[in-house]
Amino acid sequence: MLPSNRSPLMRSKRFHAPVRVVRSLDAMQSLALAWKHEGQRVGFVPTMGYLHRGHISLVERARRWAGPAGKVVVSIYVNPTQFAQNEDLGKYPRDFPRDLDLCAAAGADVVFAPRDGAMYSGGQPEVHSTWVIEDTLSAGLEGRSRPTHFRGVTTVVAKLFNLVLPDVAVFGAKDFQQAAVIQRMAANLNFPVRIIVAPTVREPDGVAMSSRNKYLTPAQRDQAIVLSRLLIEARKRVRASTTGLDPIRLREALRPVAAVYPLARIDYLEFFDPRTLEEADLVRRGTRMAVAAFLGDTRLIDNGPL
Ligand code: PAJ
Repeated sequence: MLPSNRSPLMRSKRFHAPVRVVRSLDAMQSLALAWKHEGQRVGFVPTMGYLHRGHISLVERARRWAGPAGKVVVSIYVNPTQFAQNEDLGKYPRDFPRDLDLCAAAGADVVFAPRDGAMYSGGQPEVHSTWVIEDTLSAGLEGRSRPTHFRGVTTVVAKLFNLVLPDVAVFGAKDFQQAAVIQRMAANLNFPVRIIVAPTVREPDGVAMSSRNKYLTPAQRDQAIVLSRLLIEARKRVRASTTGLDPIRLREALRPVAAVYPLARIDYLEFFDPRTLEEADLVRRGTRMAVAAFLGDTRLIDNGPL
């Protein structure tokens, strides 16, 4: 019996087919191979769970792409290798029954949820010694603040691709650099998968949805709008300029906006070319901005086109 059938959320919603939960890596791969054999198309959404509307928009996107006959897989796995020692692996939020309900309602066929540690040599991490490293797009932005992060992401996503065998995988623009790194990895390593990048889903006040928003106190949550406010202000200034803006000057001009939110400590604020992720010499329309900020111990990121 699936936990989803017992939850009040499930009963309050319109009927939808229950989603199948696959725990074992071998079972997932066998299922995917059987689908391939039948000529089914497979859409895939990798996540770390504690799902919100941002994640669900990706599942709906995969569902639309797959059509009624295709298969949609959502993976839920809090991947230990993408967290540094000082990060929030141990307290990363989880609510598996609720995640299942949301996946079922969004039209997923399978939730692939390996047990903790299972992705790394059956819970023997010391036997895991193969890594996938993308060394160029991963270097800046998040990679500079979190040096081992993308190695963990590319490794787990490569493994997930090998287990789920998707034709299409959907990632969120919320983690723009991650999507770019995965796109590059898939191209470089000839994974037969097309990567779709779907737009960032925001709360009504502009804050990008994130599982980590749960950590915020009410006061911190109020001030979390600093990230989207900085994006809006930068965009306004870029759109008002005909010549483009000097990045150092623009960063200076944004200081008063950040100052309105004293609970936030900006980790980085960068302007970059969306294709190369290299820092822009001149900020103009089409340049992208990324910002990371701490609210207390919680680190939030956001980005968008200018
Ligand atoms: P997670 O943070 O759970 O995010 C899963 C997917 O949801 C990512 O593609 C992310 O960009 C997308 N997403 C998160 N918030 C979003 C929002 N507000 N709007 C739209 N999409 C959003 O990213 C990861 O997990 C992991 O690194 C993973 C790829 C699963 C590898 O472990």
